[in-house]
Amino acid sequence: MGFRSKFPPPLPPSSSKLITFLVCIMLFHTYNGQTLRTDPSEVRALNTIFERWDVQIPRNLWNISGEPCSGTALGPDFDVDYNNPSIECNCTFDSNTTCHITKLKVSKLNRQGVIPQELAALTYLAVLKIDQNAFTGTLPPFLGNFSAMVVLSLAHNQFSGTVPKELGNLKQLNMLAISSNNFSGSLPPELGNLVNMQQFYLDSCGAGGEIPPTFANLQNLRVM
Ligand SMILES: *[C@@H]1O[C@H](CO)[C@@H](O)[C@H](O)[C@H]1NC(C)=O
Ligand SMILES: *[C@@H]1O[C@H](CO)[C@@H](O)[C@H](O)[C@H]1NC(C)=O
Ligand SMILES: *[C@@H]1O[C@H](CO)[C@@H](O)[C@H](O)[C@H]1NC(C)=O
Ligand SMILES: *[C@@H]1O[C@H](CO)[C@@H](O)[C@H](O)[C@H]1NC(C)=O
Ligand SMILES: *[C@@H]1O[C@H](CO)[C@@H](O)[C@H](O)[C@H]1NC(C)=O
Repeated sequence: MGFRSKFPPPLPPSSSKLITFLVCIMLFHTYNGQTLRTDPSEVRALNTIFERWDVQIPRNLWNISGEPCSGTALGPDFDVDYNNPSIECNCTFDSNTTCHITKLKVSKLNRQGVIPQELAALTYLAVLKIDQNAFTGTLPPFLGNFSAMVVLSLAHNQFSGTVPKELGNLKQLNMLAISSNNFSGSLPPELGNLVNMQQFYLDSCGAGGEIPPTFANLQNLRVM
């Protein structure tokens, strides 16, 4: 994960001049708005995902091409209705020079398609809201790789197949919504590992069978 570097110990004059020079270039680029600070692999992934889903950004609220961590992606309005689709970035990495995409919302936009493999590149995601669309296909097991995930909202779509047991790896997860989908099979006992979960929406998700006894471990659950 990211780290904050302390100021380094004093350096010989030549190195400190070089560093001053580099920092000046960096600041110039940053203030000039030219630097592409967002992790390039995340930019590529986001562009591919939005192409596949045919998603447009309204009124240039933020930039999909060039520097996505711009405009509303840097502000507090991620969840506000006018800002949809939206992303939010954390730009404190590498001493404020690198941004990672931490939130992605494509909600209530009647989008179709499957969850693309490229989503796996957004490894810093803490919030993923793609509820209330017409997405299909199975949930890829790599959803369980998002170790920072806190909110995962997939409700009101047409996802099918079984609910992957890998979701049980999302130890930080606070909210999981899979309701109103077309899942089948039974619920994986591994979901009982999500001990931080406070809200769990699974009504009409399609999965059947018994409620796994492991759900007794979900001691922080407030809403189910
Ligand atoms: C951004 O990331 C850093 C490093 O992981 C973290 O300490 C900080 O809390 C994050 N900021 C926000 C607003 O989430
Ligand atoms: C998007 O990028 C263009 C060109 O770099 C810039 O002029 C514009 O201000 C950016 N938009 C936002 C919302 O940051
Ligand atoms: C990063 O930017 C924030 C806000 O401008 C500032 O408080 C912090 O000291 C900066 N951190 C580094 C390592 O430059
Ligand atoms: C997800 O994590 C598993 C186990 O660490 C790894 O084998 C797999 O390659 C990862 N998948 C992706 C798409 O990153
Ligand atoms: C739901 O899944 C079943 C198979 O489990 C399939 O026959 C049906 O067409 C699916 N419905 C939708 C709306 O995707």
